Amino acid sequence: MYALARPILFSLAPETAHNLTLGLLSATGPLARGIARGVYRAPNPRLQLTVAGLTWPGPVGLAAGLDKNGAALPFWPALGFGAVEVGTVTAHPQPGNPKPRMFRLPAEKALINRMGFNNHGSAALAEKLTALRGKGAYPVPLGVNLGKSKVTPLDEAVEDYAVSAERVARLADYLVINVSSPNTPGLRSLQGADTLGAIVEAVVQRSEGRPVFVKLAPDLTFEALDEAVAVAEDSGAQGIIATNTTIERPRVTEDFGPGGLSGAPLRPRALEVVRHVAAHTTLPVIAVGGISTAIHVIEALEAGAKAVQLYSAMVFGGPGLIAQINRDLITLLDARGVARLADLCA
Ligand code: FNR
Repeated sequence: MYALARPILFSLAPETAHNLTLGLLSATGPLARGIARGVYRAPNPRLQLTVAGLTWPGPVGLAAGLDKNGAALPFWPALGFGAVEVGTVTAHPQPGNPKPRMFRLPAEKALINRMGFNNHGSAALAEKLTALRGKGAYPVPLGVNLGKSKVTPLDEAVEDYAVSAERVARLADYLVINVSSPNTPGLRSLQGADTLGAIVEAVVQRSEGRPVFVKLAPDLTFEALDEAVAVAEDSGAQGIIATNTTIERPRVTEDFGPGGLSGAPLRPRALEVVRHVAAHTTLPVIAVGGISTAIHVIEALEAGAKAVQLYSAMVFGGPGLIAQINRDLITLLDARGVARLADLCA
């Protein structure tokens, strides 16, 4: 099916295609979700993983940024995702950067974006999640990714994260502190020890006992990563997400201006960061960056990750991708004589 839809979607500007797809998914009712569940199937129980005390029915989570406002929340688990992360949301609703701000690089299987946290704000998301929670249990862990509003000065960042955390914590299964998007001026400076510690402490205080993760940039040096991870751990964070998009342009020739690169060209660096961070902390690490196949999932787990997420590969692979990865993982486990995917986690 996606083979038919993809040329149509790719003939549209990337953000138009994105909004059209999300609009269609958010309009689907229980019947369409039931059909999707039937077609794509829930992950085999052999793929279940545990991350910071949360059970993921499958190893592949939806990365932040695809469904910033939780528009299609009921749909994602039907595709086989083992967890869903919405956001980034900010304390103030904001329009993001001028368009165009999202670019496809089909030859490289990559995206470049400078969206700038366009979102309806954490209060609107809290309303949406309240309605969702009222309809019964959500089938997979639901994370909310928090960022700083553009209008908030950097020296007031702690309060901005705290306000959002307070609004959404009891409605989420985990929270993520995003200090690593390249598209909000100065945001990445919050990865420095002093501010990061204060932000993590403020969010943990308001987290209602939910695990708090810190999402880091692939462009930090190993020394800076070590420092950020140590501060996160000391301040009460319970996990690391590695990585966000990169401002480097490895293996990319076309110039789309500033923004974060994601997809295939990011994978070598993201994997290197996962391996380094996992070797230097006892916190669980969620790997993200260029993952698009079952082999990539296994490589990430063998590098020390406890689970993975993806975004860009969905754009190129379509809605059947996650079920395909889950099926291929079972084939690979059988070939290796391994009973459960969790046995591959260190
Ligand atoms: C992102 N990503 C992202 N991350 C985040 O923490 N908050 C966000 O709002 C966004 N927004 C966003 C928009 C777009 C268009 C893209 C492509 C990506 C980053 C994303 O979650 C992930 O970390 C990277 O894209 C790397 O993973 P993939 O895409 O290579 O699988």
